[in-house]
Amino acid sequence: MSQQFASRPLVIAPSILAADFARLGEEVRAVDAAGADWIHLDVMDGHFVPNISYGPDVIKAMRPHTKKIFDAHLMISPCDPYLEAFAKAGCDHITVHAEAGPHLHRSLQAIRALGKKAGVSLNPGTPASAIEYVIDLIDLVLVMSVNPGFGGQAFIKSALGKVSDVRAMAAGRPIDIEVDGGVGPDVAGLLAAAGANALVAGSAVFKGGTVEAYKTNISAIRNAAALARGEAV
Ligand code: DX5
Ligand code: ZN
Repeated sequence: MSQQFASRPLVIAPSILAADFARLGEEVRAVDAAGADWIHLDVMDGHFVPNISYGPDVIKAMRPHTKKIFDAHLMISPCDPYLEAFAKAGCDHITVHAEAGPHLHRSLQAIRALGKKAGVSLNPGTPASAIEYVIDLIDLVLVMSVNPGFGGQAFIKSALGKVSDVRAMAAGRPIDIEVDGGVGPDVAGLLAAAGANALVAGSAVFKGGTVEAYKTNISAIRNAAALARGEAV
């Protein structure tokens, strides 16, 4: 493994947004068995983004189905009034958007005070510099490579440059760099080479609809990224 990546393990995080919502518990168990590292949970409010997904009660219902890390991505504004509910629902990571409100610093402090890892997500139009002032309060940066709100969109290539910017800013800090939107085996290597260590994938993981298909899909993404990291596959 090259020194650049040595401290942050490669993580594949299937997004439950692409699962069959009528069988959520089963789908969580299926991606767990198929090799998911984290379970990515997209929360949408119909206000910050033009779609509505699910909230803390649904996450709480999924929680007993896996021991894997629950990686919550809150596309909601305001976020502060709901942070405690997501923590109590069993989220391990709580990521808020830099654009979701005027007090990002306060939101991150609140997440850490709840004993959870604090993440910040950046919309495609938001530069890495927007989070420089909170870098010491961040455990994870989630770079959006689509406009948030829907699964199945095309990867926006400018995310690659932003990943490099965030990687440089994170320097030696223990910060995960995650990318979300349009990610599949085709871009996984480029993202890993740019410095991302956590890859979210919805449609690229859930296509096929069976544990066997999920296993093949997750492996394809993992192998492409691992190769770019110089790791054995
Ligand atoms: C989009 C969500 C993503 C989405 C990714 O707002 O944040 O997590 O589910 O889906 P794909 O991988 O299909 O682009
Ligand atoms: Zn997401």
